[in-house]
Amino acid sequence: MEIRKVYPGIYRRIKKITSGNTILMGRRTYETIGRPLPNKENLVLDAEKKPIAGATVCGSIDEALTWAEKQGKELYVIGGASVYAQMLPMVEVMHISHVKKDYPGDVYFPEYDKSKWQEIKREEYDEFTAITYRRNSKLSPKYPLGTKRKNFIASLKSESLKSSLKGIPSGETNQ
Ligand SMILES: NC(=O)c1ccc[n+]([C@@H]2O[C@H](COP(=O)([O-])OP(=O)(O)OC[C@H]3O[C@@H](n4cnc5c(N)ncnc54)[C@H](OP(=O)(O)O)[C@@H]3O)[C@@H](O)[C@H]2O)c1
Repeated sequence: MEIRKVYPGIYRRIKKITSGNTILMGRRTYETIGRPLPNKENLVLDAEKKPIAGATVCGSIDEALTWAEKQGKELYVIGGASVYAQMLPMVEVMHISHVKKDYPGDVYFPEYDKSKWQEIKREEYDEFTAITYRRNSKLSPKYPLGTKRKNFIASLKSESLKSSLKGIPSGETNQ
């Protein structure tokens, strides 16, 4: 599924938010996209560190965060489920497009404590609701992660990261 065609509003939103910054994704998500997304630094997590032309491949979250801090840009975690789960304790802002249509799914966004997140912006569209959430509690001192903000970008049906949305980030490649 190509997000640019099916959800052009989500496509435009992701593109606008991440342009000029750094995106972080797991190896499987990279494979669903198939090539680096333009106009941003692409960081891919892969324990085997298989090189990817046009992207930086990191073997661990620590390595990725150290690299991202050196770039001095904001970090946007674009999935998938395993990377969202690992990064959840460290992110400060979540940009979530809640899609209205139902999709069967087999991978899921991690559960999070809603009382720790405050809605700071909401935009209503026919097919989805775009909500920005900010953490309303301080990050644990366990995560001394430098100065640049870390963010999530995800498109969900309820709380789940539905597999039918597999192509979500890939629409950006077709500019
Ligand atoms: N709806 C949305 O917003 C959205 C967004 C993104 C993705 N998705 C969907 O989510 C699914 C993919 O999620 P997923 O959880 O299966 O896979 P994933 O998180 O995209 O990738 C998992 C892989 O990333 C690497 N990795 C993860 N953490 C690592 C670490 N700490 N150190 C080193 N490597 C690490 C590993 O690769 P190796 O096995 O090579 O070591 C791991 O197998 C796809 O269906 C995709 O379409 C949906």
